[in-house]
Amino acid sequence: MKLRTLFLAAAALLAAACSNKPVQTVLKTDVPVRPAGQENVIGLTTEPLETVRIGVVGLGMRGSDAVERLTYVPGAVVTALCDIVPERVAASQKALADRGCPAAKEYTGSDDAWKGLCEQEDVDVVYICTDWSHHVPVALYAMEQGKHAAVEVPAAGTLEDIWALVNTAERTRRHCIMLENCCYDFFEMSVLAMVQSGAIGEPIHGEGSYQHNLDPFWKAYQGNWRLQENQKNRGDLYPTHGLGPVAQVMNLHRGDRMTTLVAMDTKPFNGAKMSETLYGKADATFAAGDQTCTLIQTEKGKTILVEHDVMTPRPYSRMYQIVGTDGYASKYPMQVLCFREFREGEEVNAHTVGIERTYTGDAMKEKLSAHPVPILTPELEALAKEVGGHGGMDYIMDYRWVYCLRNGLPMDIDVYDLAEWCCVTPLSRLSIENGNRPVEVPDFTRGAWNQVQGFSYALAQ
Ligand SMILES: NC(=O)c1ccc[n+]([C@@H]2O[C@H](COP(=O)([O-])OP(=O)(O)OC[C@H]3O[C@@H](n4cnc5c(N)ncnc54)[C@H](O)[C@@H]3O)[C@@H](O)[C@H]2O)c1
Repeated sequence: MKLRTLFLAAAALLAAACSNKPVQTVLKTDVPVRPAGQENVIGLTTEPLETVRIGVVGLGMRGSDAVERLTYVPGAVVTALCDIVPERVAASQKALADRGCPAAKEYTGSDDAWKGLCEQEDVDVVYICTDWSHHVPVALYAMEQGKHAAVEVPAAGTLEDIWALVNTAERTRRHCIMLENCCYDFFEMSVLAMVQSGAIGEPIHGEGSYQHNLDPFWKAYQGNWRLQENQKNRGDLYPTHGLGPVAQVMNLHRGDRMTTLVAMDTKPFNGAKMSETLYGKADATFAAGDQTCTLIQTEKGKTILVEHDVMTPRPYSRMYQIVGTDGYASKYPMQVLCFREFREGEEVNAHTVGIERTYTGDAMKEKLSAHPVPILTPELEALAKEVGGHGGMDYIMDYRWVYCLRNGLPMDIDVYDLAEWCCVTPLSRLSIENGNRPVEVPDFTRGAWNQVQGFSYALAQ
């Protein structure tokens, strides 16, 4: 019997080797079974809130700006503030007072003071701007207390944490959104509207990245947490700025889904040296490569390239390139639109067939203005630019999730977006640490990725 089994296995291997079919090499991760009685939260709506009461946890560079920004959002009020550093709580309290807002309740003094904030009755949303290690525990606890969670990017860095957020959002029926501001930059939103009008044909490939030399920032992160994350973890540690806007164009879990990815990185040429600069000691075990590339395949046969580089002195870029069957849009290094296009009276011959026409500057703006962004009014755009936050996109982001909560509408960015965009971190690592093997991307909706067709913003009647 044993001999027969061996023979069959050898025959199967030989058959595979002789056929043209590649031997299966895709790495798979566990997809936890959805707990009984629990349903997906696609299109989740919750009771409309006239006023959205917000507790902000983490008041460093990002959180302190958020507190101030939220004071300009109609219907939003900050009712609680938390940071382990008491001076930061005091500074944000002063920012509220300077804006004429009522004082918020304060939480500080211990590493888990945020639990009190999550339990506070007049908090509807827990807005999390801590270092990465606190995102998930705070978000989970907030949802368990019946609050919605709004989490800075990247919300989570491990599959275990991502599945915990998905399962908890589904069980508690609370929103768990990711604060991916880059989805609300004006060029990206305009291109999304243009793509949805069919102007570039079928979008078939997208690129997005986080290329940002963090040299001037490393020392500013509380307790050096950001460099430590790069020391410990390999893979693309910050994929959501690049992937988010491309994912909306590609309708991920709204008619398409990511199926497989492959990743590759460089050695940490500069990363290891950065430890020496900050701690006076080089780090031979520094994990994150200076440059990481991840290539993703979708169910519909499209591709997405995501890159990460926070270590080299290259120009800031989120790449954002959308390739369509009949057109192209690119944000970096310069904003460009391009179409296969002929002009009246133009000679068409072997040399001109396939020629494309490129639009930049005012000509590009005119093309884009033909496709208005449904969530923007001239007043909102002007206010966003005045309040600021990366040129206004941070304001539009906060305005949008508050608007959706006030009107009982589904979120633009739901927990499955969070899961899909964040999973690039652990899956790129898995690919890299296994000789760049392809890795299957789990379906975080567990079967519902085709339930909605096409990304759209929800709007009140
Ligand atoms: N979307 C964007 O454009 C953008 C830009 C910058 C940072 N971020 C994200 O924002 C988050 C914060 O980054 P940052 O630059 O403000 O870092 P930071 O180090 O300036 O701020 C983190 C804050 O969290 C506080 N904190 C740490 N542990 C805490 C705890 N247990 N309880 C309460 N507070 C705690 C720290 O004291 C600090 O004030 C990160 O997730 C980062 O990736 C996003």
